[in-house]
Amino acid sequence: MENATIVFLKSFFKRPRQTGAIAPSSRQLAQAMVARADLGHARFVVELGPGTGAFTGAILAALPRGADFLAIERNPELVTFLRRRLPQANVVCDDAAHLWRHIAERAAPPSAVFCGLPLSWLPAGERDAVLDAVAAVLPLGGTLTLFQYIHAAGTPPGRQVQRELARRFRRVERYPTWWNLPPAYVLHCVR
Ligand SMILES: C[S@@+](CC[C@H](N)C(=O)[O-])C[C@H]1O[C@@H](n2cnc3c(N)ncnc32)[C@H](O)[C@@H]1O
Repeated sequence: MENATIVFLKSFFKRPRQTGAIAPSSRQLAQAMVARADLGHARFVVELGPGTGAFTGAILAALPRGADFLAIERNPELVTFLRRRLPQANVVCDDAAHLWRHIAERAAPPSAVFCGLPLSWLPAGERDAVLDAVAAVLPLGGTLTLFQYIHAAGTPPGRQVQRELARRFRRVERYPTWWNLPPAYVLHCVR
């Protein structure tokens, strides 16, 4: 199997704006993301933009037995890679803004959503469509956990992402993680 970093880098050169980074996130960032969401009693969890699976393994490991998991990735090459890497993960190839399509038939909505999308890089319409889709499916108390590179957080698009989160969530908490290239904030949002 090809190395995840090489697969990721190839995706960046082919679709830079959609990929949004040159390398997968670190194990430390994955652990910091998962530690913020309370997955101990989760029944259904969604991951948007899993890429090569930097967070996926950590999420699956934290889920209780029998919990349902769904990942939505837009890049078909990354979907193929991730299905091979983690065959136990349920990965669909679609736009994260179409989240409702994949949960409509489930008995209950997700209690937690993880988002790896490069929200500060996406066109405003795409960014807002994804945030609206997440806000529409999360129940009261449900959480969205995402990350934002520290160097991008103070830029106009980075600040706009924070404003859009504040419009849709009751509480937005921010935690720095230095062990990632580049360092990132984990943003934990409660509906
Ligand atoms: C910055 S990468 C993060 C990948 C992984 N979560 C990580 O942290 O290493 C962003 C990922 O989001 C995917 N993506 C971008 N826009 C998307 C969309 N609208 N729907 C689903 N996936 C999307 C990209 O293809 C890429 O895999």
